[in-house]
Amino acid sequence: MKILVTGGAGYIGSHTCVELLERGYEITVVDDLSNSNKKAIERVKQITGKDFTFHEVNICDKAKLDEAFEVEKPDAVIHFAGLKAVGESVEKPVEYYDNNIGGTLNLIRSMREHGVFNIIFSSSATVYGDPAEIPISENCPKGMCTNPYGWTKWMIEQILTDTAKADERWKVILLRYFNPIGAHESGLIGEDPKGIPNNLVPYIAQVAVGRREALGVFGNDYDTPDGTCIRDYIHVCDLARGHVLALDHINKMTGSDVFNLGSGRGYSVMEVFHAFEKACGKTLKFEYKPRRAGDIPVCYCDPAKAKKVLGFETQFDINRMCADSWNWQSKNPYGYNECEQ
Ligand code: NAD
Ligand code: WQD
Repeated sequence: MKILVTGGAGYIGSHTCVELLERGYEITVVDDLSNSNKKAIERVKQITGKDFTFHEVNICDKAKLDEAFEVEKPDAVIHFAGLKAVGESVEKPVEYYDNNIGGTLNLIRSMREHGVFNIIFSSSATVYGDPAEIPISENCPKGMCTNPYGWTKWMIEQILTDTAKADERWKVILLRYFNPIGAHESGLIGEDPKGIPNNLVPYIAQVAVGRREALGVFGNDYDTPDGTCIRDYIHVCDLARGHVLALDHINKMTGSDVFNLGSGRGYSVMEVFHAFEKACGKTLKFEYKPRRAGDIPVCYCDPAKAKKVLGFETQFDINRMCADSWNWQSKNPYGYNECEQ
């Protein structure tokens, strides 16, 4: 089977490409490099010893996207391409709706015109909003999102579900990721945020490597054991494996289906901070800051459905996640760049 991976140069996409190649899939990557670096593609080839084609294409450009489909003739698509910075989406809603929703509509049209009807989509726990139940199962109703980024995921889920309902040739799997962290054990690929990191582990990693002074902990007055927020962190390589299992499943199913991909275990901000200190062998600085707007106190999943249907279970614990994040960051202090950009 040949898989067209949109956003395959990005953090989760590059790890999934490694997993796909190691499992014997053929791949081709479509990415406009708007939030990634071409070096990630080279490093995926280095890790796996396998070659594949790369199309530097914005999925909003239908003609160029069509060209990639014509040349590559894929059997399925894994769709990672999208903008993902929550705060930026509040500042630039039109750009987010345009890129994420417009891009996905283009992709659906292009797929249909080229007879490709299997798609796995990167959704997010953010679609649950302030969740009605903890742990969060897939039956938990989708909620009100607090930002345009979240709404793009919410709406793309609906668009893909409706597409599968209207035409039985389509098979759609929506994967709702919880909080991906960690990196490939080689330390050759990992998360490389542009500018000041929005997410917890990339921020701690930059403190550990000396690029930032101290972690700001957003709120220590939540109703949780240590007062800081609890999240369900998942190793990016576990997450990548989840995509391959979803691909195995897509051939056996009809219509659309949705799965949580998380560990089912919650860790507080301070637990992650201390696990990272242990991983890097240093004492790091932190300071308590006010709560961040839009944060929910507790979020972790019920992983039972992914286990039962896909046979998916996470393998890596928080210590391993932090050790691998540190391995990547210490070997690549400025990510794929040589110095601060
Ligand atoms: P990322 O930014 O590293 O990867 C996304 C990739 O898509 C980048 O390489 C970027 O250049 C590319 N891209 C963006 N817009 C494009 C366009 N119009 N055309 C072509 N390429 C485009 O992000 P990631 O963390 O790897 O996330 C991958 C997907 O998973 C995203 O859809 C994201 O919303 C979703 N997701 C991420 C998280 C997370 O915490 N990282 C959680 C839940 C869901
Ligand atoms: C985790 C915890 C912060 C940074 C986000 C998106 C979500 C999904 C995953 C894409 C929270 C705290 C963070 C910092 C801190 N992405 N924190 N200091 O908010 O759970 O989820 O990424 O779909 O949609 O919202 O992840 O890593 O930003 O935060 O104290 O400098 O760490 O308050 O409690 P979040 P995160």
